[in-house]
Amino acid sequence: MRVLVTGGTGFVGANIVRALLADGYGVRVLARPTSNRKALTGCPVEVVAGDVLDRDSLRPAVAGCRLYCKGPPAARVRPMFGESLTTIDGERWQHRRRLMLPAFHPQRLLALGPIITETTAAMLDRWERFAGRSQPLDVLSEMTDLTRLIIVRAVLGDVTPEEARAVGRALDSVFERTDERLWSALPWVRHFLGPRSRQSPRALRALDAFVRGKIDDSRRRSPAAPNLASTLLDTPDPGTGHGMSHAELCNEVKALLFAGHTTTASALAWGWYLLSLHPWVERRLQQEIRAVVGQRPPAAEDLPALGYTRMLVEEVLRLYPPTWLTARAPLADAELAGYRIPANAIVLLSPYVTHRHPAFWEEPEKFDPERFTVERSAGRPRFAYFPFGRGPRACIGSGLALMEMQLVLVMVAQRYRLTLVPGCRVEPDPGIVLRPRHGVPMIPVPNHGRESG
Ligand code: HEM
Repeated sequence: MRVLVTGGTGFVGANIVRALLADGYGVRVLARPTSNRKALTGCPVEVVAGDVLDRDSLRPAVAGCRLYCKGPPAARVRPMFGESLTTIDGERWQHRRRLMLPAFHPQRLLALGPIITETTAAMLDRWERFAGRSQPLDVLSEMTDLTRLIIVRAVLGDVTPEEARAVGRALDSVFERTDERLWSALPWVRHFLGPRSRQSPRALRALDAFVRGKIDDSRRRSPAAPNLASTLLDTPDPGTGHGMSHAELCNEVKALLFAGHTTTASALAWGWYLLSLHPWVERRLQQEIRAVVGQRPPAAEDLPALGYTRMLVEEVLRLYPPTWLTARAPLADAELAGYRIPANAIVLLSPYVTHRHPAFWEEPEKFDPERFTVERSAGRPRFAYFPFGRGPRACIGSGLALMEMQLVLVMVAQRYRLTLVPGCRVEPDPGIVLRPRHGVPMIPVPNHGRESG
């Protein structure tokens, strides 16, 4: 089995290789030599020097779905995604994607704006207690709770606080368990060990029952305001006139709950971390907020005028892309970036590595939102930046994620400045999602009376 790793530096290379060795693959890493040699010391792998990246050379694997599929590499995330859009291939995928696209139309997403702003406002009110006592909160868990509640409401409509707590526990439990298994040498052994391992099937059953119940409710009587699930329920295939079956819809809804919050939460947590280290960027953000929205709550319609906020989000997603690694398998022998890849080999594509590659990015480690101005973006290869993937299999929820991140950033920054607790260590943990390993402890400092300019 041959594996092609795009780029490969430090922890990224080490984790990929550890995972593949655990699976019994013979690994040949085609990567930049120096950093990887160090990271891979002691691993029985052949490290081949030389860069595999070239202008747009990743296009067939990232964006194509005729020559490459997701199937085999996606097996390890099945507990979360089941048989859903994220994991299926070929005609089934094409048909499902056609059915789901209307629910993510930008015009429909505008209607989700108030869910985002109301949920965020409630979180900010709760923070007052912490701000009053200068008490730190873990911004990663706060952003996870926030985005989880937003996606549950966006997909399923209103939920009671008890339902929200129960579904939150179930989602977290399945996520943690899948994350553990992703890198585990013997995933099936853990299945039989310890109470944590038994929590996941139980949590999945609870989640299943909850989602089925909500969809049944929607079938019986249409919700007052349409949500993503009810829109999917009402969208028949133009070819056949039939929509998804009940089981298919339940699978898709569960997958949206997972895909739609862990990623956004970690990007927001990285955003607050980066802002706290770069006060001049935070000042620019504040200036834009004052000029465009002042103290009133922002709305989705304000976003086109919030250009700096958008570039800030893009830069956070460049440095810490939540989906830092994705995989494909070529359906037949293929060639990629000049390498021959046999059928069924696994090709690993890492936005994290590509986004920090000096061939495409000036001072790649520097946090600089203005690298995304139209002028500075001109001439940059399309495949140098793919936090949401590219082409037909690109993220279906990217519009929602970008809107959510911008609205949350603006609302938090209107009320607080988040300062990092001195001495804490914030480092990336490359699991299913690239999260800060120990969270991000920060103190919310009220913004009232801060000098302008
Ligand atoms: C910052 C937030 C997000 C990031 C960074 C992100 C990233 C990605 C990436 C990179 C892919 C493509 C993976 C590949 O090519 O193998 C993807 C696919 C997908 N994402 Fe997202 N995502 C985010 C938010 C969301 C949201 C909010 C939703 C839904 C509400 C969502 C639902 C999906 C689905 C269903 C797919 C599979 C699409 C297909 O294969 O046709 N994602 N996402």
